[in-house]
Amino acid sequence: MANILLVGTATLDLVFRLDHYPQENEEMRAQSLRVCRGGNAANTAVVLAQMGHRCTFYGVLADAPETAIIEQDFRRHAVDCAACPRLAGKPPTSSIYLSGSARTIVHYRDLPELTARQFLSLDLTHYDWVHFEGRNVPELLTMLAHVRHSKPTIPLSLELEKRRPGLEAVLPAPTLLICAQGYARQCGYTCPRDFLAWLRGAAPDADLVVAWGEDGAYARSRRGEEIHSPAFPPPMGVVDTLGAGDTFNAGLIGALVQGSDLSAAMVAANRLAGLKCGIEGFSLPIGP
Ligand code: FRU
Repeated sequence: MANILLVGTATLDLVFRLDHYPQENEEMRAQSLRVCRGGNAANTAVVLAQMGHRCTFYGVLADAPETAIIEQDFRRHAVDCAACPRLAGKPPTSSIYLSGSARTIVHYRDLPELTARQFLSLDLTHYDWVHFEGRNVPELLTMLAHVRHSKPTIPLSLELEKRRPGLEAVLPAPTLLICAQGYARQCGYTCPRDFLAWLRGAAPDADLVVAWGEDGAYARSRRGEEIHSPAFPPPMGVVDTLGAGDTFNAGLIGALVQGSDLSAAMVAANRLAGLKCGIEGFSLPIGP
């Protein structure tokens, strides 16, 4: 199994299950409330760890009592977060409303983002794969350049979920770009193949993947193959889509790091994301 470093955010998620989405000014009761760890890179780390990989999460953690929930969950899944910088403040927090197959997220953060200076203090020697969330662009540029310089052949993936100022500058560095449908749409594309053709211009040497919800996912390999892999909806219906994209990313990285080709990795990623949508949270019925 591989040593994987995941760089991004760990959040405190307050997940309310609702029987309908609230109207403005409505007062309603939720059917349930789950208080748990979240965050894209953190979710991806927890899923990869369940696949048997040795995962390290690296991101700023708040020096606050609520962080215990985040740390306990990392511990439960054997995700190492010991090296994370701790800063005064509150954990980034999300209020999440699950109604039907929709999930609505209200997010708040005032915790400082990870700096390149902090990242440069990490020893990258024993990692087989490094994955980043696409955020905090100026620092991200330096961090990606550092990985490329210190470990020139290591696979390096970047998640692009939202369009952010200057983000296009980071696109040439990674070996794998994993895009959300929302990012493609924010870039002006409603067709995944057109989006990937545009992205190829910005990232000539990377494998390019875009998840497309119920339509599965599309890719263009660095060798030019065009791939489409359908979604695997859960047989008993959708229960919880929160973090389905993060789970897809884990499925993709996990398969590729074990030597699958991109086409097989896309199938594995869609299967895993489908499995996740059929259960609440991230305790997936999988093993190494
Ligand atoms: C799901 C998620 C949540 C978190 C939010 C942050 O993808 O990572 O766990 O609260 O997104 O944007």
